[in-house]
This record gives sequence, C-alpha cells and structure tokens, in this order.
Amino acid sequence: MKKINPFKPHSPVPTAMFAGRINEITTFEKGLHQTKNGSPNNFLITGERGIGKSSLLMLYKPLATGAISTDYGNFNFVTINTVISPRTNMLTFIKVIERSLKREIGKIESVRSFLNDTWDFVQRIKVLDSGIEQSKSTEDPDLVIDDFAYSLSETCNRIANPEKGEQAKDGIVIFIDEADNASCDLHLGYFLKVVTEMLQQHGCDSVMFVVAGLPDVIEKLSASHESSLRVFNQLKVKELSPEDRHYVIDRGVEEGNKVNEEQTTISADAKRHISTLSEGYPHFIQQFSYSAFDTNTDGEISEDDVLNGAFNVGGALDSIGSRYYESQYHEQIKSDEYRQVLSIMAENMSSWVKKSDIREKFTGNDHTLTDALKALTARKIILKNTSKMGEYRLQQRGFALWIKLFGNRKK
Ligand SMILES: Nc1ncnc2c1ncn2[C@@H]1O[C@H](COP(=O)(O)OP(=O)(O)OP(=O)(O)O)[C@@H](O)[C@H]1O
Ligand SMILES: [Mg+2]
Repeated sequence: MKKINPFKPHSPVPTAMFAGRINEITTFEKGLHQTKNGSPNNFLITGERGIGKSSLLMLYKPLATGAISTDYGNFNFVTINTVISPRTNMLTFIKVIERSLKREIGKIESVRSFLNDTWDFVQRIKVLDSGIEQSKSTEDPDLVIDDFAYSLSETCNRIANPEKGEQAKDGIVIFIDEADNASCDLHLGYFLKVVTEMLQQHGCDSVMFVVAGLPDVIEKLSASHESSLRVFNQLKVKELSPEDRHYVIDRGVEEGNKVNEEQTTISADAKRHISTLSEGYPHFIQQFSYSAFDTNTDGEISEDDVLNGAFNVGGALDSIGSRYYESQYHEQIKSDEYRQVLSIMAENMSSWVKKSDIREKFTGNDHTLTDALKALTARKIILKNTSKMGEYRLQQRGFALWIKLFGNRKK
C-alpha cells in the first residue's frame, strides 16, 4: 500500500511541522501584549512566493486565540481571516469581516442581536448595491469606512465589557492575506490608515491588523495612501536556516511515521541535498522532501531518491515550475535570447549583475541585450539597480534557482 506522504508543498504548513521564525513569533507576541494593553500594533508581513507568509499567519492565529500559549500566557483574541483577490472591493471585504465576526462571536443570542444592530449598515449597502437604480448605487467610500470603524469599535467595546453570560475577549485580530492582490477599488492602504485612526478616536484600542503579501504590497499600500505604511511594524520573511531546514525534514518524516505502519528513515546525505537544493525556501524544502518520499521504495530516503525525485518528469522541479515560474519563463517571454539573459543572471541567483558581465556570456548582439533588459525590467521579472548604473538582478531567488536547475529544459 502506498504510504501517506507527510510533506505539504501545496498548503500552509501545519503547526506541528512549522520551523523557525523565532523573531517573527516573539515580535508578534509582543504586539499582542501591547494591543491587549491598549497600545494597538499592526503588522505588515512581506516575502517572496512560497517563503511561508500564509504559514506564519496560520501559526499566529492560535497564538492570538490562546490555543497555543505564549511568554505572556494565553491570549484570548477573536481572530478574523480574510484573503484578498483581485476582485475584492471594499464592500466585499467589509462583508467578509462582518460575517466572520458573526460566526466567531455571534453564537450567543444576545451578542448576535447586538451584532445585527451594530452592523446593520452592511445590509443597507447591500440593498443599495443591488438596487433598481444601479447608477445611484455607489456609496461614498468615506461614509462606508466611517460606519465600518464605528461598528468595529462598538463590537470591540462589547467583547471587552461583556454582559452576563458572555465571555470577555482581549480584542480582535484581523488577518489579511494575499494583500498584493489588492485592486485600486479596495483602497486598502487608505482604508487601513483611516480605520486605525478612527478606531482610536472612538476609544477602541484593541484591534490589530496583520497584512501579508508579496513585496510589492508595499508599493500598493503607499499608492493607495502615502503614509499608510506608518501604521505597520514591518516583518520580512526570509529563507530558513540550515538547522531549520533539517528540522522541517525530520518533523515531516516523524509525522509520516505516525500515520504509516511502514516506517521511513532518511540519510544525512539526503537531508543535506534537500537543504542545499532548496536554498532555504520552505516551499522548495516541502516539495523536494515530498518528491523524495514519493520516489523512495526501500524505507530509507537516500541521496538518489532526492535527486530522482527532484529532476524526474513530474518530480519536484516540474511541480515547482508549473506552480510558480513556467508561465513567467515560457509564456511571458517570447524570445530565446531573453531567456538566455535570465539564465546568465540566474548563475548569480538574485544578486546584482553588471550588464557588462552579462554581455560577456550573451551570444546575441548588444542591441538585443539592451532590449531584453528593458523588457524584462518593465515586466518586473528583473530589477534595475537605482543606485548603481547598469546593474540588474532577478526579482526572486526562487525563480533564479528554478531557472538554474530547470529552465533549460524545453517546455
Ligand atoms: N516555517 C515553515 N516550516 C515548514 N514549512 C514551511 C514553513 N513555512 C512555509 N512552509 C511550507 O512552504 C510552502 C509555502 O508556504 P506558504 O504557502 O505559507 O508561503 P507563502 O509565502 O504564503 O506563499 P505564496 O506567496 O504563494 O502565498 C508550503 O508548502 C508550506 O508548507
Ligand atoms: Mg500565501
């Protein structure tokens, strides 16, 4: 019988297999402590694709609700999860928060009727939204934000000062994942800046926003409101250290042995290979481990299992590529010469490379190289160094690694 594969390349990591991020965890715990005690903290978590932002949020949740205890004891926040898609506008966003609040704390009859009254404005927007006179259905966003902030602060006050039979809470943590998807219609930076200020004016100081997204979320937020970034403590999620990488692999094997009768071991060489190939990218560690586990037949995962699992058709690199990079590499770039420029740059991973160094290895002419660098920069596949002329680098380390290991294989 086929063993159950414990590695999770396609979903955020379960708490039991979570590695590292000590700094991100202690900073968050401190933030919860501050927020609980009347000095609200908000966080902006940025990092490249697959670096572990959503996994971090998944760990933050039980820290906030008290399911996992912290240095400050067990917190007791209400948590709300939201995920932004390009279609999310301000109304859908507010509705998601309203519904989640009702789901989380509306189980008690008295609270439910309080929430229905307090969040009544959302129904009104819905009526306007689907009203007969479509052209008149747009509500002024500032009025909606004002209603939202007021309702949220009323809700906060209620859970902090509960009536008979209700349980007191430390406050509300609102997680906003994939914020880099935010469309202009959402006005996310403006929304968060104004809401946090209004909450303070209403005397509500126990709401925390935790926003996560790709690095360009920073530009999006500031385009929406110049000083929206000031609202946040920023945390950049980086690659895992070699010790953490080994921990991920060991924990995975252990989890596998809990659910499978047939036990699995892994050699030190195999672990080292996964660690090196992954360069510390959690998604890559999970994927390489998954494929090695899948390839293995004799119960001990060896170096060969890792390599076969990584490079075989349908193996780790195929999966990583089809999930993240293939379209960027094969569809958005029409010319083999442009792809050659990327391959040359990938030799230096995502470090800065001088144009003159690329030229030495490039087989096309100067003109093509200039065009390639211009086009790739415009598509944000590579970055141009603004403080040093003629230097470029690949936007993402993970993409560089994929090109290096796999990009030359024809689609
Ligand atoms: N701290 C960690 N320990 C172990 N595995 C992790 C950790 N963080 C992330 N992973 C694994 O890495 C992969 C990517 O994680 P996750 O989905 O959280 O990244 P992300 O930054 O949210 O990615 P995306 O940009 O695509 O949303 C998943 O397979 C997850 O299981
Ligand atoms: Mg994510």
